[in-house]
Amino acid sequence: MDQQLILKTQEEFKKIFNTNYEYIYRAPARTNIIGEHLDYNNGLVFPCAISLYVYAYISFRSDKKICLYTTSEKAGSTSKYIEADLDNLAYTEAHAWANYPIGLVAILEKYHGKLGYGFNVYYDSKIPVGCGLSSSAAILVLTATFLNEIYHLSLTPLDIIKYTMLTEREYIKVNSGIMDEAIITLARENTCLLLDCNTLKYDYIPFDLGEYQLLVLNTNKHRLLQESKYNERVSECTKALDILKEHYQINSLTELSVKELANIKTFLNDDVLYRRVKYVISEQTRVLDFTKELQKVQPDINVLANILNAGHLGLKEDYEVSGYHLDLICSLSNAAGAIASRMTGAGFGGCAISIVKKDLIEEYMPKLKEAYLKASGLECDIYIVDIVGCAKRI
Ligand code: GLA
Repeated sequence: MDQQLILKTQEEFKKIFNTNYEYIYRAPARTNIIGEHLDYNNGLVFPCAISLYVYAYISFRSDKKICLYTTSEKAGSTSKYIEADLDNLAYTEAHAWANYPIGLVAILEKYHGKLGYGFNVYYDSKIPVGCGLSSSAAILVLTATFLNEIYHLSLTPLDIIKYTMLTEREYIKVNSGIMDEAIITLARENTCLLLDCNTLKYDYIPFDLGEYQLLVLNTNKHRLLQESKYNERVSECTKALDILKEHYQINSLTELSVKELANIKTFLNDDVLYRRVKYVISEQTRVLDFTKELQKVQPDINVLANILNAGHLGLKEDYEVSGYHLDLICSLSNAAGAIASRMTGAGFGGCAISIVKKDLIEEYMPKLKEAYLKASGLECDIYIVDIVGCAKRI
């Protein structure tokens, strides 16, 4: 890490907490390459961790306080610094962003064991918030990782995934799936994780695009209504599954085959539910086709690109989670020279991914920026990302 930055942070840490920090940890953002909205359908997902990080600078305390600071301007001046007590870890509206780390401690104390004494943390996030790159899952996994190591909690990676997810579901009350926490906990450099969200079995698949580069495009259109629409899709899938269980012996929609689509349409007798199920089944097939192609001695980049583009179309037309800005950036990106673009994460705004030939990037970037600004009135951010490893001490 940059020495100047370390010194500056040590100074700021001392000003806030009146002591020096003892540890630095970091956790990456994640993006999903293919397999969107499949985790809560017990299907296959194919995410990777990317080189945008949130950092934590930590010191122990001798009392029972948890003192947390964030550099994020989004927190607003009243909630940049938050204090909680190990004897009172209840969800508190005014704790704002800090409900994530406080909630994790509450869940650890409930299901795993007491920490005994408190700690100070200075969080410095370089992951854009609310843009579909899992900044909150990164904070959760980061916090679980350093607590596990410095308090010797003996948590396995699967425990970290379980407790961070429980924090989202029980404490924050968002019904999210397992993908984000899993990839940030398990990520390895230059690979994607082929994760079966039903069995939690996983494989690392090398993700080497040769002369092509993975880019993350931020529409800078924040995700309004994200939670409610997200939960709406979760309940539509549950409703369709309940109907289809009367006709098939299945536990999840992802167990169905595309060959069954005509029958499924008749059984559901509801256009919206049918399109949701069609998307889920087709996306599962895309994950299988994509990973199969990637594992060939010479993967065909055009086959991979077609699968990604088809994935976006399904999210737009059948699952209806993309929206104006994501559709716009994907089509402008392809027009500017990308061979594939698709939204990533929950959707309704946030980020897309694109694949662009490395030697075209210089010419592609200003083209896309200009076209997107002209059409939407918003600046977009383009990140040239590396695929990196999981949360760890640095
Ligand atoms: C959000 C959720 C994930 C997953 C994606 C969609 O990021 O947190 O669990 O459902 O949306 O693939």
